[in-house]
Amino acid sequence: MIVTTKQLFELAYGKYALGAYNINNAEQTMGLFRGNMDSKAPFIIQISKGARSYTNKLMLEAMIRAADEIFPDAVFATHLDHGDEATCYDCIDSGFYSSVMIDASHESFDENIAATRRVADKAHAKGISVEAELGQLGGVEEDIAVSEDKAHLTDPKQAAEFIERSKCDSLACAIGTSHGAFKFAGSQGLHFDVIEQIQKLVPGFPLVMHGSSSVPQDEVARINAAGGKLAGAKGVDPAQYLPAAKLGVCKINIDTDGRLVWTRVHREFFRDKPDKFDFRPVGTIFMDEYAKFIASRNVLLGSAGHIDEVRAALQK
Ligand code: 13P
Repeated sequence: MIVTTKQLFELAYGKYALGAYNINNAEQTMGLFRGNMDSKAPFIIQISKGARSYTNKLMLEAMIRAADEIFPDAVFATHLDHGDEATCYDCIDSGFYSSVMIDASHESFDENIAATRRVADKAHAKGISVEAELGQLGGVEEDIAVSEDKAHLTDPKQAAEFIERSKCDSLACAIGTSHGAFKFAGSQGLHFDVIEQIQKLVPGFPLVMHGSSSVPQDEVARINAAGGKLAGAKGVDPAQYLPAAKLGVCKINIDTDGRLVWTRVHREFFRDKPDKFDFRPVGTIFMDEYAKFIASRNVLLGSAGHIDEVRAALQK
């Protein structure tokens, strides 16, 4: 059941965070739905600009619609991750998306507000909610690369003004995380003080944490042992997810970790079975492993076990 992001946030606020997982293909879609059903969690599917053009945006939408039929008990929202204005409008017009993210965080404060406001006006007219970003995360996210010296934390006072003027429905805050598998390069951990201050200024407003993959060290070691070169990769401590959720972070973005599961499964499979060249045996292992990974994250996010109560609240 595709639901609105707004409803999911209202039900989760202050209690748990929704896992927001990026997907690109059929195996990931199946693993994602299975993992969420196994852990009985509501969730958010993130679709990036790159994922929309990897095969075709209609292919991705069709796979999600099919998964919705295969797993009729699933409760989820569909979300554009890191959109520019044109992509946001395309998604709003498509009728498929629960929410869109306009990422104009690289623009000036006023231009970020203006772009977000334009998107919000169009989105709200169709009942779609809008995530914006203020501050800048370091790291690499598809075609956006931000060096550590350009990255800066969200200013809580600016955040309050931004929310008021831009009419966004949720805000991605830079609190020290970065995109990709090499986080905290030369800088410290998470700044919960920033979230706390924003919450004091705009109580009840849903916040979003990007760059939240934990980059499990056993995963990295297995990838490297099977020929990978990811020395020094590290991520967020996943024990921080729930404390962040209690401070009003409703959505936690996890993409890199899914790619690491994919890389580990494929590297080990073809290392151990050099005579194989079929899609399905390795794809089957990946779907199982990705489902297990998703279920384990939902436990840490606190979203596991909430699906029945969320469905009941939304069907009232
Ligand atoms: P990770 O690279 O930490 O998975 O973050 C993904 C993300 O924030 C997508 O918007």
